[in-house]
Amino acid sequence: MSDLTQRVADSQATLARIASDFSPAVFASSLAAEDMVLTDMILRAKLPISIFTLETGRLHAETLGVLDQIRATYNYDVVAFRPEPAAVEAYVTQNGLNAFYDSVEMRKECCRIRKIEPLERALAGNKAWITGQRRAQSTTRAGLDVQEDDAARKMAKFNPLADWSEEDVWAYIHANKVPYNPLHDRGYPSIGCEPCTRAIQPGEDVRAGRWWWENPESKECGLHVVDGKLVRINAATNN
Ligand code: ADX
Ligand code: SF4
Repeated sequence: MSDLTQRVADSQATLARIASDFSPAVFASSLAAEDMVLTDMILRAKLPISIFTLETGRLHAETLGVLDQIRATYNYDVVAFRPEPAAVEAYVTQNGLNAFYDSVEMRKECCRIRKIEPLERALAGNKAWITGQRRAQSTTRAGLDVQEDDAARKMAKFNPLADWSEEDVWAYIHANKVPYNPLHDRGYPSIGCEPCTRAIQPGEDVRAGRWWWENPESKECGLHVVDGKLVRINAATNN
C-alpha cells in the first residue's frame, strides 16, 4: 500500500468509528480543500455525520459557490449556521465594518460574533465534532492529534487528516474528482473570510495569506481554542 492509500484507509476508518461510537457527530466544513476530502469520504460512505459550515456573512462568492457544487455532486445540503444579526449590527455600528484590521482584540471579537457563537450552536447536543485541520498547516497545529478531548465542551474532537500533507490532499481531490473552491487555483491555499484572506506568492507559508497583518502566533480564529489555550490532549487511541 502506498503511504497515501494507507492514510486514506486510516481516515476512512476514523470516520466510520466516529459514526458508530460517537453518534451524533458533526463535521465543521470551511469548504476548503481539506474539508472537501472529508466531505467526499463522509458522503460516499453515507455515514450518519451531518456537515455544517459557519456562514460568517463575509465569505467569498467562490466559497459560497462550493455549497452549490456539493449539492450538484452529492445531492447534499450543507447546513449553514449564521451569526446573530443583532450582534453583527452592534459591532458594525460601534466599530465599523472592517474594524478587525485595527487590533487583535477587534479581530477576535469579530471572529467571536461571526464564527464562535454560531459554532457553539452548531455543536450543541453532539458527542463529537470533526475538523479538517492538519499538523503541517501551521506552527500552532504542530502537536495536533487525530483524536482530542474538547474538555470544555465535554465532547470528543477529531482531526482525521492530522498527518496528511498538502500533496496528499490534492492527490485525493484529483483522483476522486472532488469539487473544490476555484480560489485554490488562484494562489489561495488557505481560505477564510474574504477581507481576512489574500493570495500568497510561491514559496510563502500556506497560511501567510490569513490575517496577514498579525503575528503567526495569533493567527487562529478561536474555533480551535478553548479557555485561551489550544486543546491538545492525547486520548487513549492508536490513531
Ligand atoms: S481557522 O481557524 O484558521 O479559521 P482553518 O481555515 O485553517 O481554520 O480551518 C481549520 C478547520 O476549522 C477546518 O478544516 C474546519 O473544520 C474548521 N473551520 C474553519 N472555518 C470554518 C467555517 N467557516 N465553517 C465551519 N468550519 C470551519
Ligand atoms: Fe471577522 Fe475576519 Fe474573523 Fe471573518 S475572519 S469573522 S471577517 S475577523
